[in-house]
Amino acid sequence: MTHRATALTASTAYPFLNEVGLGHRGAWMGKLGSLSGGGDFVFDPYELYRQKLVTGTSMVWIGTVGTGKSAGAKAFACRMCTLGVKVAVASDPKGEWVAPALAMGGTVISLAPSGANRLNPLDEGPRDSRLSDDEWVALVLSRRRLTLTAIIPSLIHRDISPREHTALDVALVAAIAAPAGETVTITDVYKQLTDTKDDQAREDGADIAHGLRRLVHGDLSGVFDGESTVKFDADSPFVVMDTSGFMGASATLLSVATTCVAAWLEAAVMDPAAGKRIVIYDEGWRMLRDEQMLLRMSEQWKLARQYGLCNLLIMHRITDLDMVGNAGSATRALAQGLLTDAEIRIVYRQEEDVLPATKEALGLTDAEVREVRSLAQGVGLWKIGKRPFIVRNYLTEDELETFKTSDRFEEIGSVTPAAADPTDTTGWTADPVEEEPNWDIEATGRHRIETPTAAAPRPFVAPPLLKPATGWEAAADEVSAAEEYREIELTGRRSEIIAAANRAKHADLTDDSFLQLATNCISPEIHSQTTSGAFCTQCGVFRPDEALIAS
Ligand SMILES: Nc1ncnc2c1ncn2[C@@H]1O[C@H](COP(=O)(O)OP(=O)(O)O)[C@@H](O)[C@H]1O
Ligand SMILES: [Mg+2]
Repeated sequence: MTHRATALTASTAYPFLNEVGLGHRGAWMGKLGSLSGGGDFVFDPYELYRQKLVTGTSMVWIGTVGTGKSAGAKAFACRMCTLGVKVAVASDPKGEWVAPALAMGGTVISLAPSGANRLNPLDEGPRDSRLSDDEWVALVLSRRRLTLTAIIPSLIHRDISPREHTALDVALVAAIAAPAGETVTITDVYKQLTDTKDDQAREDGADIAHGLRRLVHGDLSGVFDGESTVKFDADSPFVVMDTSGFMGASATLLSVATTCVAAWLEAAVMDPAAGKRIVIYDEGWRMLRDEQMLLRMSEQWKLARQYGLCNLLIMHRITDLDMVGNAGSATRALAQGLLTDAEIRIVYRQEEDVLPATKEALGLTDAEVREVRSLAQGVGLWKIGKRPFIVRNYLTEDELETFKTSDRFEEIGSVTPAAADPTDTTGWTADPVEEEPNWDIEATGRHRIETPTAAAPRPFVAPPLLKPATGWEAAADEVSAAEEYREIELTGRRSEIIAAANRAKHADLTDDSFLQLATNCISPEIHSQTTSGAFCTQCGVFRPDEALIAS
């Protein structure tokens, strides 16, 4: 008996069957899954826009820790860059985009507490010649207001009241009218709040002044309180805002710093004459911690369209946005809007518990959810408009080396400083000498598996960028950003262990081989043949992490 179905019915039943990719213009991202025809997957958001397949170029990339989002995004960014599209990384809290930027001949702007650089988040950026004087003034004012209202709640640990909004507005307008230097700074706004002759306004603005004080005289001083000492190089192919210097700070303050940095970069890239530019927010959830941060971002995304910008927001899971507002609230609608605005969604593996939310927020079909549940590393569901593609992202050896993040972050918090310098109170060793491991190489069929001789633990080299700055400690009751990341990464790993084991159906796995499976290798089968302590040439993992077993 032959079954007949319309193309529509067939594509619902077998959602990936009819897809043959998106043509040949753009960056090669990898191969389509066999369900999607197995061909090459070439992608360019601007091209999709030109072909009217999407109405905007905004992208969201979500996936559990270690699934390969950042690596995929780096491949996308670098490959687009070779096609002449510029890249700006607005948020890089781990400093992991520095190497790709340098590889592309780009520029890195590093911000750190007591660092050499200062950035004024209230900089107005290049003037948009299409706007009248009044329109331009209004746009700059609204951008500055959004930046201030986005950071203040974190600094005062609560929402801003209506009276405070007014006080802030009055202070901002007064500061703009009479800046101390070339342009208005946060110090100017702070001074207006504290020095105003209007007693009522001073009283109303007292708390927000206290909050801003942290940037002006407190532990964040010297970074965001004065005129910028760095310039945005509009001709640079790849600009990265590296904020990894804030890792020792509290998680909240890292969010504040990230928001300040992103606000500055956004003003700088909003130049209608600048051409195409991809703006990347890695670990983007950091900047969407509360309603005001979300509001700022959503306004920014609306504007971005007119400036040839392609925004890419990378986050772990959809529920990162649920922290904000209640179900059905205006805030939640804002969060939802940010997602629905993005017609290009890339979904990497998601944990079971967030699948229903992902399905709903991104409008996935049941068949798509089934796929997303068990995706391997580097493999994702690319949903472009309503069209789904399963794509395996391929990276070259050089790219893997340039993009790797695992070495830098795996061992945060579990560092035992060998032969520590007694004068060094940071707990990080200075440039320990990496011993050359001595491998006995044996070939086992398809994969080369190397077994380390003796149990010489590979010395961990503290990544210099993550060295917590001196004089920059999270307060006792605050979680440092580094600790927060460690927690997130470990949680991600644990779920990876279970998912990989389920996937491979290795009921007989020992704890050690579980860990091998948990190490993010895209080929679990390699690990399943790998005895404890062996080395996989594919992902470079060679021994179980004792700390992980213990936790
Ligand atoms: N497509 C891929 N092919 C091979 N290895 C990959 C791939 N994607 C990621 N990896 C490996 O996994 C590591 C972690 O990936 P990353 O992109 O940092 O994860 P995420 O950003 O999702 O947490 C990378 O450093 C790389 O070694
Ligand atoms: Mg990442």
